[in-house]
Amino acid sequence: MPDSAQTAEQVRNRFRSHAQQFDDLYEDERPLVKLLRPGLFRRRQLAVETVAAMEQPRVLDVGCGSGRIGELVLEAGAARYVGVDFSEPMIELARQRLVRYDDRIELIAKDFLDTDVQERFDAILAVGFFDYIPEPERFIQRMADVCEPGGAVVASFPAWSWLKGPIRKVRYEWLGDCPIFNYTAPGIERLFVDGGFSRTEVRAPSRHGYLLRAWRA
Ligand SMILES: C[S@@+](CC[C@H](N)C(=O)[O-])C[C@H]1O[C@@H](n2cnc3c(N)ncnc32)[C@H](O)[C@@H]1O
Repeated sequence: MPDSAQTAEQVRNRFRSHAQQFDDLYEDERPLVKLLRPGLFRRRQLAVETVAAMEQPRVLDVGCGSGRIGELVLEAGAARYVGVDFSEPMIELARQRLVRYDDRIELIAKDFLDTDVQERFDAILAVGFFDYIPEPERFIQRMADVCEPGGAVVASFPAWSWLKGPIRKVRYEWLGDCPIFNYTAPGIERLFVDGGFSRTEVRAPSRHGYLLRAWRA
């Protein structure tokens, strides 16, 4: 079992030094890049669709990054948006991107487990987040604590595949000093049912990962 504190520090360092590089992926509309990265757009789309189907929802975005998803969910009608990310450069990018929504947003530069968020949310997003989490149970429990009954979590999870798995392993862990974790569909379902979510929907849009929606009882 990896040391959680050490893993968190490695992940934080990664997203401190690669904030702009990650943000740039969204700008890259070249067909080849889009072809290689359909997951980035699919997971964002599910998050936005879920929020858009709700009436003025309060949205918590865990690992909000540079606010790319925040921007679209605010456009889609979120009444309040709280973004949490422990990479300060990511939060700074999000602050710049979301400046026009100033009266509806709060951005918190902290580890999600160290936040003192007390309010309840209708939608909780954790997109591109669980890839970096060695002990997801504690994060899911905290999400359940702040999820309004009837509210939903939207999350993405990577799966091991022989096509992308070795490339990701070398790129992130060997060259980038950033641990990553893979999931299975039954494992994801178990995590959320045990965490207090009554209904779960796990999709496998490709061999490389899963998309989840889970509703709080
Ligand atoms: C791959 S990025 C995804 C950003 C955004 N959700 C998106 O899809 O555009 C993952 C983000 O999660 C953040 N993160 C990872 N572990 C975290 C933790 N324990 N608390 C807060 N943020 C965390 C990283 O700093 C990084 O910005």
